[in-house]
Amino acid sequence: MRVLIIGSGAREHALLLGLARDPQVTEIHIANGNAGTEQPPRDSSVTVHRHSVNETSRSGCVALANEIKPDLVVIGPEAPLVKGVGDALRDAGFAVFGPNKGAALIEGSKAFAKDVMKAAGVRTAHAEIIPPSDEEGVSGPSDAVIEEVIDRFGPTWVVKDDGLAAGKGVVVTTDRKKALQHVNEVLAIGHPVLLESFLDGPEVSLFCLVDGETVVPLIPAQDHKRIFDNDEGPNTGGMGAYAPLPWLPEDGVDRIVNEVCKPVAKEMVKRGCPYSGLLYAGIAWGKEGPAVVEFNCRFGDPETQAILALLKTPLGQLLSATANGTLAEQPPLEWEDGAAIVVVLAAENYPAEPTKGDRIRGIDKVEKEVPGSVLHAGTARNEKGKYISAGGRVLGVVGKGKDLAEAREQAYTLLGKIEMRGGQSRSDIGLKAVRGEISIP
Ligand code: GLY
Repeated sequence: MRVLIIGSGAREHALLLGLARDPQVTEIHIANGNAGTEQPPRDSSVTVHRHSVNETSRSGCVALANEIKPDLVVIGPEAPLVKGVGDALRDAGFAVFGPNKGAALIEGSKAFAKDVMKAAGVRTAHAEIIPPSDEEGVSGPSDAVIEEVIDRFGPTWVVKDDGLAAGKGVVVTTDRKKALQHVNEVLAIGHPVLLESFLDGPEVSLFCLVDGETVVPLIPAQDHKRIFDNDEGPNTGGMGAYAPLPWLPEDGVDRIVNEVCKPVAKEMVKRGCPYSGLLYAGIAWGKEGPAVVEFNCRFGDPETQAILALLKTPLGQLLSATANGTLAEQPPLEWEDGAAIVVVLAAENYPAEPTKGDRIRGIDKVEKEVPGSVLHAGTARNEKGKYISAGGRVLGVVGKGKDLAEAREQAYTLLGKIEMRGGQSRSDIGLKAVRGEISIP
């Protein structure tokens, strides 16, 4: 099987490693992979070919696919999906893993997602939208109206940019001033603002393969979104994750599938935009049970890195079945026992204006010790061929073990062997779970 992956982050690197383990995958093409995707993984016979493309250009992606003639195209990030790159590739006759534009709106527009959830009877936060001034300059709501809306929420405010901001457009704060400031920032760039009531309870990321009404969950994971230990500091794209969740009740995944993912998949079919690809349900499990914080239309980062590390079912065949409408015929998924965890190394000054160009030392040593344990995100090579940082989140190190404590130990030991000036990482990824400090209300 020849596979084309579109995307350049750690998620795409993890997808590449997963696909390379599938004996049916012989050739992987990646546009626009980072420095981690230059070589095929150790001990793998696949060939890896790198390309560059404008990921959100429908014609550019179709031209690249026409050149490569892949059996499967896997679209990693949300931006191309929301732009309809999946539709264009499907129209050109390719099998695509990733939803069409209409279905990708589940992430692209929070208002659309709320509407679908309402129709499907899925629990989610109460929300209100504040529109920006329109293109003709007709002004949006007055300051007084904005303040009134703000006062209908709190004491914890969740203020979201109702566009695409890869998790960074969300401010969760108990400071009314900060909430108001973010509302005004988002309106100033011409995006609507979504204000939400705060959902309490531990968070679960449940990724499901969805093919029409067929929903197949992967193992549940938990992300750590804040930059500092103890969930302090600003939100990031994710500083680490672990899977599965030892504190989730035995029927937890089934409940999320039955109360959230299946009703949504059914509603999408009913609306004429059936979902095909990965549906990421971001859940807060409160007193009332699982409620949706957000949906994403693609694999999440960094959870994917931990989840795929434990998947035994051949990934290429699974994604291909989803793309070709035969997911329902697949045997149950197989997983390694134990746990996996990914700890992210971020650049100095992330998430504000991360420093770039810092030398990263130790990657090869760690990779030699545990092949596949370093997932590149924002990496590149300098003129001497040495690894340097090239983004906010630079890389993630994956550890596995018979349980979460052992997986943590491996990940942190390996991470300790990687050096980068100004590097930031959290020391408490998965720690509360190991200590038994998480429980659902
Ligand atoms: N885990 C956060 C995201 O992928 O958006």
